[in-house]
Amino acid sequence: MPGNAKLLTLQYPELGTGPVSAEPYYDPEIFDQEVEKVFRKSWIFAGELQEVANPGQFFVRKFPFAKTSVLVVRGQDGELRAFHNVCTHRGNKLEWKEGGKCKGFACNFHGWTFDTQGELIRATAEEDYLDGFDKSKLGLPPVHVSTWGNFVFINLDEHPAQTLREFLGEWGEGTEAFPWANFPCYTRYTAEVNANWKIVMDAFLETFHFGHLHKRTVASAFTTAEHPLGKMHAAQCLGVHGRLSTPGINPDFMPTPVMAEALNLAGREVGEGDAAAGPRVGDLAAGVNPSNVEDWVTDMNMVFPNLMIQVFDNLYLSYSFMPVSFEKTVLELRYHHAAPKTAHDAFGVEVQACDFRDIFLEDLGTNEKTQEALNARVIKEFHLHDWELMVRHWHITLGRMLAE
Ligand code: FES
Ligand SMILES: [Fe+2]
Repeated sequence: MPGNAKLLTLQYPELGTGPVSAEPYYDPEIFDQEVEKVFRKSWIFAGELQEVANPGQFFVRKFPFAKTSVLVVRGQDGELRAFHNVCTHRGNKLEWKEGGKCKGFACNFHGWTFDTQGELIRATAEEDYLDGFDKSKLGLPPVHVSTWGNFVFINLDEHPAQTLREFLGEWGEGTEAFPWANFPCYTRYTAEVNANWKIVMDAFLETFHFGHLHKRTVASAFTTAEHPLGKMHAAQCLGVHGRLSTPGINPDFMPTPVMAEALNLAGREVGEGDAAAGPRVGDLAAGVNPSNVEDWVTDMNMVFPNLMIQVFDNLYLSYSFMPVSFEKTVLELRYHHAAPKTAHDAFGVEVQACDFRDIFLEDLGTNEKTQEALNARVIKEFHLHDWELMVRHWHITLGRMLAE
């Protein structure tokens, strides 16, 4: 048993303190179980409310682990719905665009047409279909959809065991009031990574690697000689979800010349956050920095199974880790910020978007090398550091679900 009573991990005795198995990171059979027992049954991030704010607005999202594409649409009646994106005639993919606004959906194979509520409104040469044809029963196959904050989630289970709100639980209640609407603009990055989804996600569940992997980019902002790993976090495991509240910008941090110029133009100092424009939000939400970390910078919110929402006081980032196969993941990152009011603001946003991109590229490069090395199946278990608590939490939570 570790002797340091201050260890974060010791707050959660149910997670244990021993090494964890490495097999779920390279075993295709375990991946198949994760798909069946977790991904097909959980609420999964699909997109954002602003993409479907008005009647007729829609977006399409692929869920490759289930080999399906889902169409999320705000009907002309104002209701948000989701459907499998498949024509009920002979199964052609119905909507081929990623998003937009429309009055309905027409299949490009034989022209069957559906309205924004998913009903089949026109079947080509309707009078000559044969036995069993009933237009009223040939609407688009529905998918459960629900919203929280600025986020749209779907659930591929025919009968979800919990509502989205029940699923998000205490974590969701505390965080929902974050002022998402203050940050309506976003830059989106998508990357196909040749690594298991957990390898990719784990890299965003801890800051233990900052001082090493990110030494060319962000490390010096958070680390000092006194705190070579950065300062101690506050951690909360809330059911299957989790949160790390991260303190401390290094007051001696030397920004790059471009970053310094962006900060200068934005009228900010190092330690005041960053260069992007945005309202400085004082009272963010009860679930933001609930541990009252003194020099709080950001909360990393882990939403089980595959979403991370990182909130700052003047921006937020969402990371979706979409499993494709046991060794392929699509990572979608959205950097959300306030609408720039001046050219200075716009410059700050561009600089920050590039900074985030560079940091993520450092992570993703390592992810692929990790998968390559793990596939040799030589490493059987991982010895996790206390600061890798959330990696442990995810691992143990998943393992429990697979064992059920
Ligand atoms: S498959 Fe869509 S109209 Fe035939
Ligand atoms: Fe990283």
